[in-house]
Amino acid sequence: PSERTQWKERAAALLKQHGAVLVAHYYVDGDLQDLALETGGIVADSLEMARFGRDHAAKTLVVAGVRFMGESAKILSPDKRVLMPDLDATCSLDLGCPPDQFAAFCDAHPDRTVVVYANTSAAVKARADWMVTSSCALQIVNHLKERGEKILWAPDRHLGRYIQEQTGADMLAWHGECIVHDEFKGLELDLLRKDHPDAKVLVHPESPASVVAQADVVGSTTQILNAVLKSDAKTFIIATDNGLMHRMRQLAPGKTLLEAPTAGRSATCKSCAHCPWMAMNGLRGVVHALETGDGEIHVEEGIRAKAQGCIERMLDFTA
Ligand code: 13P
Ligand code: SF4
Repeated sequence: PSERTQWKERAAALLKQHGAVLVAHYYVDGDLQDLALETGGIVADSLEMARFGRDHAAKTLVVAGVRFMGESAKILSPDKRVLMPDLDATCSLDLGCPPDQFAAFCDAHPDRTVVVYANTSAAVKARADWMVTSSCALQIVNHLKERGEKILWAPDRHLGRYIQEQTGADMLAWHGECIVHDEFKGLELDLLRKDHPDAKVLVHPESPASVVAQADVVGSTTQILNAVLKSDAKTFIIATDNGLMHRMRQLAPGKTLLEAPTAGRSATCKSCAHCPWMAMNGLRGVVHALETGDGEIHVEEGIRAKAQGCIERMLDFTA
């Protein structure tokens, strides 16, 4: 067997030996996604990852993704051991929203309901009333708007603008962005669409307004995948991290899947958008974490207990 297969078999055996389950995001290495599915785990968007980890009976969760995903799993399941292949895998949205500055922003606007995106630290979530992911942000903000609540939003400015436009809610927003999705370019997308007039355009809402404006579907990674599976169209242009292509090609082998163009690259670029932090996850990391216990997520109990409410509220709302 190839070296890759050997690492995969070793990781599978360790998962079994430790009674652990692998919870993977669509953007991580394809081998890890396959391993998760072959061993009773899941490949999912961030909402489903949180729910799956909380509801699974395993005592150890191995979360392949970025740090906030591991932290959310720990916040929801303090009695489970949560391991990650690489604890340095972070997110530009998390980095761009330091808890002390965020707390000052909240303090300055005590009349607003605090809604934070999943891509934030546990300490930021501890200040929030609601956590949302891209798959349920619209629904939840709509609900709050109907209740007459004014919103303080953090940290993704593109997702915040999209939700504000769609709902008309009164939203005061933090200025953060995803370094991957922020690179998609409207003009180049328009050119690519001219070459493929029948293509459907599927866009993650962390993308800039000029890209979202050309979308047939705007949604989370799972929603983008489902849009491909239920559409009769043959060709799709996808504006999200190209890690999602692995699962999409497996489930929709007959479709033509094109990556949306990113900054400074030509419209024919095949592999532009990939999160450097998601790319830190690999089979070796899973093996190392399970063999050594390195990569365990710890969240200080005071912060954890405060952060739990906003995530549980979202899970209840979307149940
Ligand atoms: P999803 O919740 O859509 O999976 O997005 C998570 C993420 O990090 C997108 O960049
Ligand atoms: Fe964060 Fe963007 Fe990476 Fe997702 S793709 S983890 S939002 S930097």
